Amino acid sequence: MALPDTVAIEHSMAAYYARRAAYYERVYHKPERQSDLRAIETSLAAQFAHRRVLEIACGTGWWTPHGARLAKSWLATDLSPETMTVARAKPLPAGKVDFRAVDAYTLAGLDDAAPFDAAFAGCWWSHVPLARLAAWLATLHSRLTPGARVVMLDNSFVQVSNTPISRTDADGNTYQLRSLDDGATHEVLKNFPSPEQVFAALGPRARDPKWTGYTHYWVLSYDLA
Ligand SMILES: C[S@@+](CC[C@H](N)C(=O)[O-])C[C@H]1O[C@@H](n2cnc3c(N)ncnc32)[C@H](O)[C@@H]1O
Repeated sequence: MALPDTVAIEHSMAAYYARRAAYYERVYHKPERQSDLRAIETSLAAQFAHRRVLEIACGTGWWTPHGARLAKSWLATDLSPETMTVARAKPLPAGKVDFRAVDAYTLAGLDDAAPFDAAFAGCWWSHVPLARLAAWLATLHSRLTPGARVVMLDNSFVQVSNTPISRTDADGNTYQLRSLDDGATHEVLKNFPSPEQVFAALGPRARDPKWTGYTHYWVLSYDLA
């Protein structure tokens, strides 16, 4: 599998989410998503109870208050200061949540915050080019202690009814054309993996992976050896 033009893909995606930060959460106000959202929000806290959690690509922090409610500590990270400005303004569990600008692919600059015994990533997997998935998961797992809990969630294929797939590249990555309020259009890599594809990608340390399919989202959870 060829390594795609990762620099261009990364820049375009990061710029798109930075420019969309102020109104990104409109996606969480769509009426048809509300029952899935309440169910997932409610289930998150128990997954992270008493754990020291690393959140990848937290964005505007929609999931952060829910996940962090029972956690021991929660470090929310993202590449974009713009999205984290929105996240910081949320009502968060007192004294538990910190934010840091961190690149999900390197996870550099976390040594003073480790160890983590849990990780969470919302709507991030779908943006990772297929050729980078294995290396990204290995990097994430290398930051987690044995027995760590990992939870990821993302959009189900139903999302393409709002935003169709515009093309598929040679590696099988799919793309969407996303419009911003100012009229600019960004091409965003957005994959819709099956449970089998996700399980196959997890690598040797993943134990007992579980997949819960909702109408608009999927949730993956597993523990690390
Ligand atoms: C679809 S949003 C997900 C936001 C949030 N987790 C959610 O579920 O609502 C993707 C996020 O990835 C961030 N991002 C893009 N490239 C990144 C990178 N290399 N490292 C960390 N975050 C990145 C963007 O800034 C954006 O906030």
